[in-house]
Amino acid sequence: MISKQTIDKIFSAVRVEEIIGEYVQLKRAGSNFKGLSPFHDEKSPSFVVSPSKQIWKDFSSGKGGTAISFLMEIENFTYPEALKHAAKKYGIEIEEDKRELTEEQKQAQTDKELLYKIHEIANDFFQHQLFETEEGTTIAYSYFKERELRDDIIKKFQLGYSPEQRNAFTEFALNKGYSKEILEKSGLSIFPENAPNGIDRFRERVLFPIHSFSGRVLGFGARILKNNVKTAKYLNSPETEIYHKSSVLYGLSQGKQSISKNNLCLLVEGYMDVIALHQSGIENVVASSGTALTVDQIKLIKRLTENVTILFDGDPAGIKASFRSIDLLLAEEMNIRILLFPDGDDPDSFSRKHPQEYVENFIKTKANDFIDFKAEILLKEAGDDPIKKAEAIRNIVKSVAFVKNALKQEVYLKEVATKFGISEQSLFNELNVQKQIQNQNFSPQQRAEPQERPKMEIVPPTIISVNPLLELEEKLVKHMLNFGDRILEKSDADNQPFKITVIEEIISHFNEDNYEPQSPVNRKIIEELKNGLANNEIIQSNFFLTLMDETIVSKVSGAILGDDELSNWEKSNIFPPKPGDKLEAEIEDDILIHKSHFIEKMIYDIVKKLDSVGDENPEEYYELVKKIMILKSLLSEINKKLNRQLTKGHSFFREQKL
Ligand code: CTP
Ligand code: MN
Repeated sequence: MISKQTIDKIFSAVRVEEIIGEYVQLKRAGSNFKGLSPFHDEKSPSFVVSPSKQIWKDFSSGKGGTAISFLMEIENFTYPEALKHAAKKYGIEIEEDKRELTEEQKQAQTDKELLYKIHEIANDFFQHQLFETEEGTTIAYSYFKERELRDDIIKKFQLGYSPEQRNAFTEFALNKGYSKEILEKSGLSIFPENAPNGIDRFRERVLFPIHSFSGRVLGFGARILKNNVKTAKYLNSPETEIYHKSSVLYGLSQGKQSISKNNLCLLVEGYMDVIALHQSGIENVVASSGTALTVDQIKLIKRLTENVTILFDGDPAGIKASFRSIDLLLAEEMNIRILLFPDGDDPDSFSRKHPQEYVENFIKTKANDFIDFKAEILLKEAGDDPIKKAEAIRNIVKSVAFVKNALKQEVYLKEVATKFGISEQSLFNELNVQKQIQNQNFSPQQRAEPQERPKMEIVPPTIISVNPLLELEEKLVKHMLNFGDRILEKSDADNQPFKITVIEEIISHFNEDNYEPQSPVNRKIIEELKNGLANNEIIQSNFFLTLMDETIVSKVSGAILGDDELSNWEKSNIFPPKPGDKLEAEIEDDILIHKSHFIEKMIYDIVKKLDSVGDENPEEYYELVKKIMILKSLLSEINKKLNRQLTKGHSFFREQKL
């Protein structure tokens, strides 16, 4: 278990905007940052980060919290995992609470955590083999040198070597206490019957660790050293509980900042392409490594940018892969350009032949939009054959049909029309045909996609709630979270002035009426605040943010980041009062309004009871009516205080004939 001191240290070091900035493009908006929600597809930014409060809120889903809860949300980390990740980033040493670090603790760790750990250990092992052993330096290190890789790049990508000995790593891991079972699960070892000591999956190969978005090793790609051997050139980790190759991009961890900064992602085919481009100073690059590009991979890129330039080999395989990727990327509403390298070059060889500036410029000027790109290739194939030419145009319109945005679609069609001298109308007809074909022909997996991810209607939670009592309860809890320790100047029944904190004032109101909070989260929060008061403590919202209860963290951060964060009033020269400006009056009113709704609810409950009591029990009936009378007079007093008329229509009486 991580010690309390370490947790405190982490929370005080972490900057929420820095953590989130690695995943979301953030733009300044007043004192906050805004960006597109990483949890939903959305067009206008509803994701707000507050550097001063150190919290975030996603207004489209209602989620929110601290930097740590963001990591839990986006990486699927457990709480300790997220803390460790943040600690690593900020160079904080983790102090374990030793009392609890037992054998049991070890067992309690999930398989997943063990798999991460094994990969970390394997990664260290392979790097050690590369740099520190004779076999590694003479065979593998020299191989990398032949491929002109610099030491800093080898280290940056944590390249390694797995030696010839058939169970070198397995033996090492078994000695460290890892079980055969977990080693087998990791895909790094196999234990056939005739080899009880196990065999390494990767032998005599150089290793490319594959990292998650956040930089944890999930698996490996492994290349043989000689090109003429008959076995497969690359061997990759199998699918495991932590490695799903269709949702991982090689180089994303090393390139994410550059991708976001350049607002462009270069997409290449291989490990070496990514690495070589980094070496020449171009870091905004990823590879789908060994699989055809998938929707999940595109979504990873989309967190950082909507612009992709495909850099593939100019061979038939590269062309085929790029055609397929174009349609997928368009369907995910990405902007794309494509560049095929000439004369058997790939980004690796090309970037080693030319200086960075030349490569950058080459990519910038030679990459085509998808229409020009497809036109060039398909028309070359078609030659003078008019039927093939029509087929080429149809093929291009097919890609346009994948574009979801109607405006973009029209612009693209215009481009095709001008390019080929064909009327827009006939292209539009073709477009509609293609759309119909797409609707019918989508593979089941693709068709299921929109159903799995329904577009979220953005409905602020306060509009969903029609319970005025709950609304006021929310308001009071919000006051306590935002201004709990503020001092209110009040006067008692004898007009004697006294001072009281906001929390004390509101809690004593709840206590006075024996009030049962309407929502479970509020109940928990109010409970904690009461406990605090019992210990002479005014609990601040930060306290709740470090709790492990996700609903509380989300609620509290939502409460202290107001619903108004999205509207930029100042821009329109409107300056609404800031929350807390007239706190005293506001709280007094809200307590009274809450009280009046509470009384209305009590009356409502009694009225319901009246119906069932009926005439059979006149005494009880009379008692109840008396109660109602008392409550009603109380209510009218409160409403007088509030300077309001008792108006039917917005209360619990709505359907009652009182
Ligand atoms: N690949 C793979 N398995 C193979 C061949 C290729 O997983 N048997 C993947 C690897 O991720 C590889 C990418 O496809 O990086 C591109 O393959 P290729 O162009 O053949 O390899 P390069 O990356 O160019 O490798 P090298 O330059 O080392 O020959
Ligand atoms: Mn290559």
